[in-house]
Amino acid sequence: MPHPYVLLSAAVSLDGYLDDTGPGRLLLSGPDDFDRVDEVRASADAVLVGAGTVRADNPRLLVNSPERRAARLAAGRPEYPLKVTVSGTGDLDPAAQFWHTGGDKVLYTTDRGAERARALGLATDVVPLGPALDWRRLLEHLHAVRGVRRLMVEGGGHIHTQLLTQGLADELQLVLAPLFVGDPRAPRLFGPGAYQAGRLRLVETRPVGDVVLMRYEPTAPGTGPLPVAADHHWLALACELAAACPPSRTAFSVGAVVVAADGTELARGHSREGTDPVVHAEEAALAKVDPTDPRLPGATVYSSLEPCARRASRPAPCARLILDAGVRRVVTAWREPDTFVAGADGSGVLAAEGATVVVLPEYEEHAKAPNRHLTGG
Ligand SMILES: NC(=O)c1ccc[n+]([C@@H]2O[C@H](COP(=O)([O-])OP(=O)(O)OC[C@H]3O[C@@H](n4cnc5c(N)ncnc54)[C@H](OP(=O)(O)O)[C@@H]3O)[C@@H](O)[C@H]2O)c1
Repeated sequence: MPHPYVLLSAAVSLDGYLDDTGPGRLLLSGPDDFDRVDEVRASADAVLVGAGTVRADNPRLLVNSPERRAARLAAGRPEYPLKVTVSGTGDLDPAAQFWHTGGDKVLYTTDRGAERARALGLATDVVPLGPALDWRRLLEHLHAVRGVRRLMVEGGGHIHTQLLTQGLADELQLVLAPLFVGDPRAPRLFGPGAYQAGRLRLVETRPVGDVVLMRYEPTAPGTGPLPVAADHHWLALACELAAACPPSRTAFSVGAVVVAADGTELARGHSREGTDPVVHAEEAALAKVDPTDPRLPGATVYSSLEPCARRASRPAPCARLILDAGVRRVVTAWREPDTFVAGADGSGVLAAEGATVVVLPEYEEHAKAPNRHLTGG
């Protein structure tokens, strides 16, 4: 089930705190950065904060710029993004500004929390998600029922920690403010948890007034059948590589990336790469990895088209090459059509030998794009 693109947004002090312990909200950003945040909010379909932030900061979470609100309306969008909050207890102040400003609101909670929220008469839609709150279900609900494609998450630390450790955050927008808090009782951005091994990808740094914005993407593949945000990034890259293939009337254009469990890219390849007119993408990528590399058994292969199951031009199809390399997880966008081989089932070959195959159909059109001359449509 598709999820919205999830963007985590936060500002921290030089010593890594989200706030101090005083009664008011600590202003970490300056005017230029508040304006940048306003712009990001205006780009989002929904803005989410945890109940702890609603209680501590009493935020309104509006798009403040009239021009940005007008642009949203002109584009056929609501004037304000949907406001979303999350609470297990449902115990929130009915007078909080969150409920009484901006556009639509929704509270995701537990069954018990929903009883409490309704008893309090909170001015919001209340969506119970069962005895405990499940983030995947919440994101699926936002996508399917509320039409949210881009979700901005503005804290606090408990929310950011869960979304990042569960592999559900596509991007982290972190602002570093030039001040110290120095109080160990103050809330931190990220708490303890099972974070991805390895390094995130730095995609941008930018001074904004006296703060610095850093944007990061997670890199570590998932470990089972459930996709994580980094799986989406790597599969999108595989689809982009497919577009770089020399064109052919007799073979698909495919891109592939091999990624270690800690998010390190081991190799990439595409169809007909270099001087080999028949090489396949997965074959080209795997040929660049030392077959004794101990990271291969924990690696994931991303391929824009599912690995081939039968092949005339080489002794071994790509599904076999992947299994022989020891890789046990494959993420793909597009099941192979009957264009060249009837009933090809590379996913079945992989699964029969214990590999996990994850298909993300939301990338199918991207994978097909350089192959339109072969498949039509
Ligand atoms: N600097 C910044 O950019 C920034 C941004 C936002 C917030 N902040 C600061 O962060 C602090 C608040 O952060 P916080 O970590 O204490 O609170 P939080 O993350 O905003 O909210 C935590 C609350 O959300 C609910 N919740 C979270 N995960 C849940 C789950 N899996 N199931 C059910 N309910 C769940 C619970 O509400 P219930 O208790 O109702 O069950 C929990 O107490 C404040 O000091 C605020 O100023 C700073």
